Amino acid sequence: MRSKPMPRLAGCLLLSTLWLTGCGKSESEPAAETSPAAVEAVIPEFEFDTRRDYQSYAEPAAYVTQHLDLDLKVDFDTKTLSGTATLDLQRKGGGDLVLDTRDLDIESVEAANGDSEWADTEFTLGESDEVLGTPLRISMPADADRVRIHYVTSPDASGLQWLGAELTADEEQPFLFTQSQAIHARSWIPMQDTPGIRMTYQAHITTPDTVLALMSANNEPDADMDGDYSFEMPQPIPSYLMALSVGDLRFAKLGARTGIYAEPSVIDAAAAEFEDTQSMLETAEGLYGPYRWGRYDLLILPPSFPYGGMENPRLTFATPTVIAGDKSLVSLVAHELAHSWSGNLVTNATWRDFWLNEGTTTYVTNRIMEALYGKKRAQMEMALEGQELKAAMKTLSDASKPLASDPRDKDPDDASSAIAYNRGALFHYNLEQTFGRETYDRFLASWFDGHAFQSVTTEDFLKFLNSELIEKHPGTFSLAKAKQWIYSPELPEDTIWPESDAFESVDAQRKAWLAGEISVEDIQADDWTVQQWQRFISSLPEGMSTEQLAALDQRFHLTQTRNKMIAREWFIVAVKHQYKPAYPAIEAHLKSVGRMLLITPIYKALAETEDGRKFAERVYAEARPNYHPISRASVDKVLREDKAL
Ligand code: BES
Ligand code: ZN
Repeated sequence: MRSKPMPRLAGCLLLSTLWLTGCGKSESEPAAETSPAAVEAVIPEFEFDTRRDYQSYAEPAAYVTQHLDLDLKVDFDTKTLSGTATLDLQRKGGGDLVLDTRDLDIESVEAANGDSEWADTEFTLGESDEVLGTPLRISMPADADRVRIHYVTSPDASGLQWLGAELTADEEQPFLFTQSQAIHARSWIPMQDTPGIRMTYQAHITTPDTVLALMSANNEPDADMDGDYSFEMPQPIPSYLMALSVGDLRFAKLGARTGIYAEPSVIDAAAAEFEDTQSMLETAEGLYGPYRWGRYDLLILPPSFPYGGMENPRLTFATPTVIAGDKSLVSLVAHELAHSWSGNLVTNATWRDFWLNEGTTTYVTNRIMEALYGKKRAQMEMALEGQELKAAMKTLSDASKPLASDPRDKDPDDASSAIAYNRGALFHYNLEQTFGRETYDRFLASWFDGHAFQSVTTEDFLKFLNSELIEKHPGTFSLAKAKQWIYSPELPEDTIWPESDAFESVDAQRKAWLAGEISVEDIQADDWTVQQWQRFISSLPEGMSTEQLAALDQRFHLTQTRNKMIAREWFIVAVKHQYKPAYPAIEAHLKSVGRMLLITPIYKALAETEDGRKFAERVYAEARPNYHPISRASVDKVLREDKAL
């Protein structure tokens, strides 16, 4: 018998006195201590349902998945996963079961009740939507509470990247990795693909015996490479955290509960770069309570990974582009680790609430960085985030500026990260600065603890903030101001922006050089950190001369930098000024990495001019086959014909 997780809040419903103490509040079960009228005064009215996930076909009022059992064969020749997904369901309203799919070949579906025999059942695939995929409607016999789906994925599945050996570091074995967030789990598992539903899972994965399989589950550091792997994830997680990776991987221990997987030629450098992971974990626990997931391991992927990192539970996926040799980009690990509280433990209920995952995580990241590397480093990183937000606020439409906006007809992959991440983090920072650190730390810790393993909406947070802080400290931070942060395009006038002293001399030297008061030889940059370089380059104005750029480049070898974040900033400036000496390095960069943050802004800048667009199209034609489907979609949008000059 497999144990099923307790229905949400079951323990609370038994004893109504508990409402006032230990139990989390949620919109579907209104908090008993607040009258409906008082709640309405806090929450505005919307034309849409704030609990509904408009990016999923799943109908949680009919069934809720409790457990998923995967049995899949990984075939590198056909670039397919094939096998079965078995869902254990809690019957609610019943009727047909609707699952999310995208480009899946559904061979057959069986249904059963409990441990009874499986019997084939009817199913239909509905109309396909470019963003949402294809609903799979399964006819459910009365009382059926399990389904088993036999299926094969498409070689072009949006959530999978199949890499030939030549695209890996060691060029020995092929590689496969998944990327499920936001709505790509449905391209490799037929399931209720919504962050509002959580399930435990187990999986049996077969592969060639020359590669190791890892999942967002209980990976064994000393597992044999035998092509037959079994996994279990005992904590209930949302679909976007389903993850699998297969390749020629080795393990290195980092600490008692932490370790790292990477290809053989990468493992030593990776282990050295991220040696502070165990301390980061302990720091986060000190701030926000115990880490609830067992082990925390990192997995370094090939450079085509479309993100910097992905917080797959127990096994963060990370780009190799953060292995800088000097720990300058390790905030990425702090960020993905922070998601173990903000995101994986307390999860955004829908993609409209994405800022609750990413904004909170960005804030927590800064706290971990400050505790471990000091205030100067954390303050620089925060100031850079503020600068990015200010720039984004100038170009974004009013409709995309609020933290939470209308979720209908949206592709979650299009959300502006400056808003969810940086405006979200700045909101937390302003609350912290207003209520004081100690109070705000206690508040966040109790938010995480009180909503552990739940999916929460923006309005859940607003209500909690109102009852736990705003009402308890009258005259400090008004409810109206909190609502402005969340729902209005513009930020409050009195927003507190993080500043960094370390940028003062950088800014002063930049200005003096641009004004012709000092020469490039006079710029004192020997002890600049990567963050100071990011500041210097990203604050350069438009309209500089080729001579000025060449002088900088000759003195500081920016085109040749091995730090990918500095390269990104410099290449954007180079393209905006059509500084041709950098173009061969830009071409090499675009062909060697697929991380969207490092490539999309460069393609965007190139697309602004006719020459740039020609160069971009030529490079992209060669690079595109090696990019991940998600990166391809992002660059395709930038270079689409209808956007041509
Ligand atoms: N969860 C995100 C990545 C993500 C976001 C995937 C939206 C799909 C849809 C991850 O935690 C993240 O934020 N990664 C950042 C890291 C950075 C802020 C340190 C990235 O990839 O750049
Ligand atoms: Zn994140």
